[in-house]
Amino acid sequence: MATNRTFTMIKPDAFAAGNAGAITKIIEENGFTIKAMKLTKLSAERAGQFYEIHKERPFYNDLVAYMSSGSIIAMILENENAVESFRTLIGATNPAEAAEGTIRKLFATSIEANAIHGSDSDENAQIEGNFFFSDLEKF
Ligand code: CMP
Repeated sequence: MATNRTFTMIKPDAFAAGNAGAITKIIEENGFTIKAMKLTKLSAERAGQFYEIHKERPFYNDLVAYMSSGSIIAMILENENAVESFRTLIGATNPAEAAEGTIRKLFATSIEANAIHGSDSDENAQIEGNFFFSDLEKF
């Protein structure tokens, strides 16, 4: 059954470019409520753990280096059918294929530096949220 929460990260490229505020505004304007938010920076070890599922992929090492290269903002978001509706809002992984008006179409610069992450399932939303927020019961 779909839950009403998802997890997102504004990635280093988008944060460094000063787009965190604009992206957060779009998220809120599209009906998502921010339940938790944290500005942080991942070590290479932590980035590797977060993307463990991609360990065998050819882009894994670059992805870990990139995701630990600068500040990120982690958030728990709430909305109806949150996982699916958020993935629609952010657009395709590759910005070249992302629909007009999506966050990646607006702000991503490459398939790697693609501005924002969105969980791909309810189960992963919970795992990823717990990865950043140890005190979720408060929110
Ligand atoms: P994300 O949705 O956070 O999940 C995995 C990330 O790996 C993805 O966004 C991209 O940043 C990156 N990624 C996925 N596919 C590729 C690829 N073919 N080449 C480089 N990076 C990729």
